Amino acid sequence: MKADLIVGIQWGDEGKGKMVDMLAQNYDIVCRSQGGHNAGHTIWVDGVRHALHLIPSGVLNPKAINIIGNGVVLSPESIIKEMEQFEGLEGRLFISDKAHLNLPYHALIDQAKEKLKGDKAIGTTGKGIGPAYSEKISRTGFRVGELLNPKKLASGIIDYFEQSRAIFEVLKVETPNKEELVELLTEYKNKLEPFIANTTNMIWDALDSDKKILLEGAQGTLLDIDHGTYPYVTSSSCVSAGACTGLGISPKDIGVVTGIVKAYTTRVGNGPFPSEDFTEDGQKIADIGKEVGVTTGRGRRCGWFDAIAVKHAARLNGCDQLSLMKLDVLDGFKTIKICTSYEVNGEIIKYMPSDLENVKPVYEEIAGWDSVVGCREFDKLPENAKKYINKIEELTGVRVGIVSTSPERDDTIIRG
Ligand code: IMO
Ligand code: MG
Repeated sequence: MKADLIVGIQWGDEGKGKMVDMLAQNYDIVCRSQGGHNAGHTIWVDGVRHALHLIPSGVLNPKAINIIGNGVVLSPESIIKEMEQFEGLEGRLFISDKAHLNLPYHALIDQAKEKLKGDKAIGTTGKGIGPAYSEKISRTGFRVGELLNPKKLASGIIDYFEQSRAIFEVLKVETPNKEELVELLTEYKNKLEPFIANTTNMIWDALDSDKKILLEGAQGTLLDIDHGTYPYVTSSSCVSAGACTGLGISPKDIGVVTGIVKAYTTRVGNGPFPSEDFTEDGQKIADIGKEVGVTTGRGRRCGWFDAIAVKHAARLNGCDQLSLMKLDVLDGFKTIKICTSYEVNGEIIKYMPSDLENVKPVYEEIAGWDSVVGCREFDKLPENAKKYINKIEELTGVRVGIVSTSPERDDTIIRG
């Protein structure tokens, strides 16, 4: 059986956690294929809020197995802390031995480089994601499987510190000595060894034995290292194609692709955002939508639905359907704006250019509605909410198959 995929198609924080959690009830295996603990997936179950960073959202379904693929950069410290929230994870969580390690010095490098960039800073999460991926690509990184031999790994890391001493000195990043490192890595080994596995073979076996597999994207298409708003992006491949390399499966193994999209747009960190709203409407969206980052606690920039960006992202990912999240946040607005084209140097365009720096949004306004909170049937939505959804479908060319009307798992419309 093919693996279904959930992918963020804006700048992250689209509400992927809720969707994966909901869908995970019907899947045997949930996999993460890229990113690291820069992700923050919030899930509400029975009024209790769970924040996940590295562990796939299937962890809240006691029957699901969760896999962290080779494309992820894994912070042992972060996952160990996250694992403490759950009992009985052995046999339910597996980490690829080929995933790269994101070690404490990566975060220090990340933060030091951001500081040096001053007003050109990317606004990273400071979690060491860029440095860990840089070392992977430079072929100087270390992998999760190496944790099984902490002394050998510590020697390798110390050698690397020696070779890069000049860089660490310039960045004023302190490195641990060998004894400290062996102690730390041994602690990681003791906690993580039962979870380290050849996950590629596990996924192949699952695909071949018709298990239901869900691939959980982190971040979003507009943060993708190749297709996002470079350099204001993350360092991984967040598009659906990245799930193949990040897990070791082929494009032929991918089934239904669902693009997760908010009914409006948000972005954390710096970089262009054409439909950002600087008026009190933007602030109202932020307040009602509780738009504060799960990972860093930073306020998110808010604005209107950008149909040009979503159409572009849906094509990149091969979306079969969209899942429209947080529609309830737009309740009570008199009118709702939707970006239907861009103006660049006086010219109107209907596609996403490679550089968004000088792009101005062109809006259409749609009449608002009272409330959609808790609505679970499409036909029961207020007429104007239906019109808004139809407009999104018309502009993006993709069907809205799922609509979320509150943070709760069951407040969701599945159109079938
Ligand atoms: P989820 O999975 C939103 C953003 C950061 C920054 C840029 C680079 O919760 O949707 P990084 O630390 O990755 O080098 O930062 O990417 N960013 C996210 N924004 N949601 C995320 O993940 C993000 N992960 C990274 O704010 O602008
Ligand atoms: Mg997030």
